[in-house]
Amino acid sequence: MDRKALWSGRFEKGMDKSVLAFSSSLEDDSALAFYDVMGSLAHVRMLGETGVLPSDDAQLISGALKTILRDVEDGRLELDDSLEDVHTNIEQRLTEIVGPSGGMLHTARSRNDQIATDFRMYLRDEVLEIVRGLSLLQRTLIKRAEEEAHSVMPGYTHLQHAQPVSLGFHLMAHAFRLDRDAERLMEAFRRINVCPLGSAAMAGTTYPIDRRRSAELLAFSAPSDNAMDSVSDRDFVLDAAYCAMTVALHLSSLCEELVMWSSPEFGFVEMDDSYSTGSSIMPQKKNPDIAELVRGRVGRAAGALSSLLITLKGLPMAYNRDLQEDKATTMRSLDSVRSSLAMTEGMLSTLSFDTARMREMSDNGFINATDLADYLVGKGMPFRQAHEAVAAAVRECIAAGLRLEDLSLQQLRSYSEMIDEDALDIIGVEECMRRRSSYGGTAPQCVAVQATECLDRVMRRESAADEAMRRIDAAWEHLLG
Ligand code: ARG
Repeated sequence: MDRKALWSGRFEKGMDKSVLAFSSSLEDDSALAFYDVMGSLAHVRMLGETGVLPSDDAQLISGALKTILRDVEDGRLELDDSLEDVHTNIEQRLTEIVGPSGGMLHTARSRNDQIATDFRMYLRDEVLEIVRGLSLLQRTLIKRAEEEAHSVMPGYTHLQHAQPVSLGFHLMAHAFRLDRDAERLMEAFRRINVCPLGSAAMAGTTYPIDRRRSAELLAFSAPSDNAMDSVSDRDFVLDAAYCAMTVALHLSSLCEELVMWSSPEFGFVEMDDSYSTGSSIMPQKKNPDIAELVRGRVGRAAGALSSLLITLKGLPMAYNRDLQEDKATTMRSLDSVRSSLAMTEGMLSTLSFDTARMREMSDNGFINATDLADYLVGKGMPFRQAHEAVAAAVRECIAAGLRLEDLSLQQLRSYSEMIDEDALDIIGVEECMRRRSSYGGTAPQCVAVQATECLDRVMRRESAADEAMRRIDAAWEHLLG
């Protein structure tokens, strides 16, 4: 069989090998083969149902597409580099199986709406998988947070001791960041889950097709509204790339803490051996390489996002080949975010926290100074004045190498007569942590509320994502049945 481009008829000669290599998208879109066949199955079924194609031909094509799908799933579909993309390869294979009627499949569609449909199907699966990865990590964070709701550690601003918090509270901060990421992904899913198939090249088609039916067969929520828009934009890819970016950012921040906390200067964390590496020269070393790699891989997500933004800038309507550049970097970014989530979950569920060390470090840095000022406010002193009185105490303590709690009541009273015996209890770090019970605060009962609320959101989202996955699977079953 002649192996040539789908558009070769108009040309006297084919592309130069180097030109073909430059323009081929097979390296990236071969990952879409499954979706491409599914899209074709829906398309041909709709063409048969609407009478655009004779039903015999539609059935013949469907049967062959199912054979091709089995080959795709078994990794047996041979993709020919000399055919420029996955669409050409599959159509060629189809024609090899059924003969010239294979050529009917491309009625009322173009590769422009085809690729947009394929990539949307790919992305909605990826997005749901990332939501699932986030869920697992959030569950681990919540579980460990509940266990550590009473463990005091320093809270930082500017990486300087600020106020005492619980380790559980700190972990919940990460869990809520990831919760917004998951929410963003579900939003992105909603926009991705719209079907461009039948937009054809850019203006729709003269055939009496049923775009709603194609959308339904592929488990999309609806057909897209404007054919030109549908083939010309990739903001749905940007949505996914941006969502991946915020996940990667949040993981990089979490992993930065794991790296810092496992240094002897902090000593807050002991990574499990299975997530650590050694040194080829320094026998004593135990390095947090996996956390560093997750931190570093944010570069892939940032690269994908910026490359896509630049690719899209200033493109005229409608389809332009530039759009082919949407896949490689985005796919790599999503893949890296998925594995980074799994690695981070693995690290967090296996590491051990040195809570005694965290407690010990909380005694440094006048972490209870705000509480002493608040105490004076409680006695009727304006906050600004209280701030100054405590600052004076801190200044003198620094000079003397003491902590606030080392001062006697008499010494404390030299800063303000309002200080009484009960101040000594209030500046104990456990007490400082427990007393921050405003909504969203670090007090153990607040952390318990946060854990319950976050878990509740995670579970609701898991059901929504599972439901979306089930609908997609049901569509596949129906198409293949
Ligand atoms: N490989 C192309 C892409 O990813 C598929 C669409 C090709 N369309 C075209 N008119 N050349 O965008």
